[in-house]
Amino acid sequence: MSGVVIVGAQWGDEGKGKVVDILTEHADMVVRYAGGPNAGHTLVVGNEKLVVRLVPSGILRAGKECVLAQGMVVDLGRLVSEMDELKTKGHAHVERLRVSDRAHAILPYHILVDGLREHKSGGAIGTTKRGVGPCYEDKARRVGITLGMLRDRESLEKRVSAAIEAWAPTIRDLGGEVPLAKDVVEAIEPFRARVLPLLTETSKLVDDALRAGKRVVFEGAQGTLLDVDHGTYPFVTSSSAAAGGACTGVGIGPTRIQRVIGLVKAYCTRVGGGPFPTELNDANGERLRKVGDEFGAVTGRPRRCGWLDLPALRYASRINGLSSIAITKLDVLTGFDELKVCVAYKTPSGETQDFPIDALDVSTPIYKTFPGWKEQLGAARLLDALPETAQAYVRMIEEAAGCGASIVSVGYRRDETIVRVDPFV
Ligand code: GDP
Ligand code: IMO
Ligand code: MG
Repeated sequence: MSGVVIVGAQWGDEGKGKVVDILTEHADMVVRYAGGPNAGHTLVVGNEKLVVRLVPSGILRAGKECVLAQGMVVDLGRLVSEMDELKTKGHAHVERLRVSDRAHAILPYHILVDGLREHKSGGAIGTTKRGVGPCYEDKARRVGITLGMLRDRESLEKRVSAAIEAWAPTIRDLGGEVPLAKDVVEAIEPFRARVLPLLTETSKLVDDALRAGKRVVFEGAQGTLLDVDHGTYPFVTSSSAAAGGACTGVGIGPTRIQRVIGLVKAYCTRVGGGPFPTELNDANGERLRKVGDEFGAVTGRPRRCGWLDLPALRYASRINGLSSIAITKLDVLTGFDELKVCVAYKTPSGETQDFPIDALDVSTPIYKTFPGWKEQLGAARLLDALPETAQAYVRMIEEAAGCGASIVSVGYRRDETIVRVDPFV
């Protein structure tokens, strides 16, 4: 049995897509366990660049099973258009995708509410406006529409009507127009026929694969600090993005998971609102954004950039029980004379190496300065081939995470990667 979770250790966009794509070469199945089309995972193969939002990042490798599990929220129209785009680009096997019939459907009123709220609050959270939050709200208040419920068109309209009724006061309050259930059901009709044959009980499918000794990658979306329970609440997404979410989001027990790999970008980024103590609003931040091409893969928004935060990494390591890390975008730091890293926090109750997640507004980062390096890193395939200062930077991250780096990524291309340990072993 071999289940490996790939989880973002920061605020998302750590490079999960690239790492999952690399691991898929040695895997049999790739399973997305949380989130929806708020995710944007970038895959680069040769000159081809693809951003997947709902479809797992394993899709570029034919012959591997790709699964959307029940912890996800699925926008039918977006799923179909993503599948069509992949087919046009030569990945016809996308039709073999399996989708949980217990995943919830993002419907037009979810997108409407998400947009209206963002507008009214002036973008306080800065959601992706994909309807993700309102869809999970419906799931929790037990008026959600699972994909399995789409099978019976007659009862569907009644269910949608009940959900809309629950939203109607909110929609009116926000100045929106309450949609009719009939129109909502009609709007998704063209996609229903395409999605229904993909539906199955994915929790059994995945458990059977694990029992048969297959290698399964559980692909996280978002990141630990955006997790609804463990993130910088309320500036979070609405799902269980952390590694524990793989169990509830797929429907497998914790004993089925052998390894948890935390994705750590060599610096930090955040899209949308919320605390970001090491954020740089200066030329260094601008440089990270430019060299790292830090613009949202979903919304195109410039990502906020800042120095690496080791207390946040210690926190993510604990929450996820990391067994190893994958460090990404080390190459982006080339050329800085010196690099600052947050090693501790000054809080009202003293100095701490822990991440003061509920006191970030009254805490300040304590930085240590590290020497930089001038060499380009993209050609390195062994850690020893990196400049000594870059190796020291990697060691410092490993020490804070409390585990070794199984992968160090030194460029966005597949081959620009140092793979040190087979993560499945
Ligand atoms: P994800 O959401 O975690 O999958 O990450 P995104 O795809 O949203 O953002 C990561 C970006 O960094 C993408 O544009 C990747 O192509 C790129 N990327 C991934 N690893 C590296 C790396 O090691 N170096 C550089 N320069 N870019 C990378
Ligand atoms: P990947 O998988 C970065 C952020 C949004 C917003 C907050 C809530 O590509 O790493 P939501 O639309 O989920 O209700 O927005 O979460 N967010 C992400 N930030 N990467 C992501 O996904 C994100 N998914 C959501 O910007 O601040
Ligand atoms: Mg992303």
